Amino acid sequence: MTQPRKLHIKSFGCQMNVYDAQRMVDALAPEGFVETANPDEADLVILNTCHIREKASEKVYSELGRLRVAKDEAALQGRRMAIAVAGCVAQAEGAEIIRRQPAVDVVVGPQSYHHLPQLLAEAARGGRALETEFPVEDKFGFLPPPQPDAIRARGISAFVTVQEGCDKFCTFCVVPYTRGAEVSRPVDKIVEDVRRLADNGVREITLIGQNVNAYHGDGPDGRPWPLGDLLRHLATIPGIARLRYSTSHPRDVDQSLIDAHRDLPALMPFVHLPVQSGSDAILAAMNRKHTADDYRRLADRFRSANPAIAFSSDFIVGFPGETAEDFAATLALVTQIGYAGAYSFKYSPRPGTPAAELQETVSAAVMDERLVRLQELIDSQQSAFNEAAIGTTVEVLFERAARNPGQIVGRTAYLQPAHVMAGPEIIGRILPVRIDSLERYSLIGELAAPQPHAAFVTRPDSSPQSLPITTGA
Ligand code: 5AD
Ligand code: SF4
Repeated sequence: MTQPRKLHIKSFGCQMNVYDAQRMVDALAPEGFVETANPDEADLVILNTCHIREKASEKVYSELGRLRVAKDEAALQGRRMAIAVAGCVAQAEGAEIIRRQPAVDVVVGPQSYHHLPQLLAEAARGGRALETEFPVEDKFGFLPPPQPDAIRARGISAFVTVQEGCDKFCTFCVVPYTRGAEVSRPVDKIVEDVRRLADNGVREITLIGQNVNAYHGDGPDGRPWPLGDLLRHLATIPGIARLRYSTSHPRDVDQSLIDAHRDLPALMPFVHLPVQSGSDAILAAMNRKHTADDYRRLADRFRSANPAIAFSSDFIVGFPGETAEDFAATLALVTQIGYAGAYSFKYSPRPGTPAAELQETVSAAVMDERLVRLQELIDSQQSAFNEAAIGTTVEVLFERAARNPGQIVGRTAYLQPAHVMAGPEIIGRILPVRIDSLERYSLIGELAAPQPHAAFVTRPDSSPQSLPITTGA
């Protein structure tokens, strides 16, 4: 066993990057790396980057500037700090990163994380290593599984990647270029991962993928399984109390998924279903392959399968050609659907995408104004949704001690943080909570089942948002 070395990973962007960061930690654990929260003392810093919008990728270069200073200071103390850039900016701009920032030792694209140990060894020999190929082998077959203590340290809720990449080619989106073509993992590999997680205390699994409901992994019967069948199978694994999936494309919702929502109590009734715009002209220009009416009908199908279903979504304002009428159609769609929350973004042209060739027609001021109006509408819907919980009893899966002593925080079915006064023994359990009040985005309540010390109303953590950050679909 080599001397422990310290590894700091900073992830930007989506859930897939959070998951990938964990897999990089798992891949480097056999090399003697242990995680540190402090980049300054690290022997290796990995920036796990996001390329989805311009702002996200700009952050990389400013972060690298700061790391260069830290690296120089480490060198003055006689210590070598290696810097690696991973994720989608690495994939899209690998050679440019090497050129622009001499402090970078390794650039590694998302499909090559299993090669990290070799790439680091190459850099340690004095070179600089760049790997952004889409290798023929499947990285999942080579990445070591997480150790039991790593699983337990990560808590009772875990992500599992079931597919990667996207074949949809929305005209604004870099994902098909940075993450490549859609690839689904086989059912038995996913089952193996979920069992291992469940055996080590994980109670909630979120299946992730850039276009998760395009899933069609090989089943044990030799046929491709749709996402609904995969969920149905995973729901039978002992210990798994809650299942979620993200991010879905409206066009890829099939009957198996709708039926899964009807039949599986473990499948949470909270669906992230990006629509991007409510205008058919803009949806066509975005190559979304569905109309606003298709989306409305789809929402109805979900709700008839399970009336408890709530939706979240993603929106882009200011796509080239978006008129005041187009934007009004987006507001109308939001009003009709009624969201529990949503993300909204200003359009940002991404190099290499078809939309980047289009003339931008919406001024910065109009884009700002549209974003504010949309966010106000979504916020009012989210507040109404949260307020509706007050006075009701909801099931909460308790996750961890909250910042305030004596308080435990968990999540409702709709990912709302919920706080109660209770002992740590409730962590990992799903218990009914009577909701008394709301503080920002957090529900405050008390355990509904008789429990000692359960009757305090307490302050929440300041977690601002209850939605998952997703990239894709
Ligand atoms: N400009 C603005 N927003 C974008 N998104 C993806 N690409 C762009 C872009 N070029 C948003 C979409 C997607 C979410 C993850 O990010 O809304 O669903
Ligand atoms: Fe694929 Fe989603 Fe990007 Fe469209 S927005 S190309 S569905 S990842």
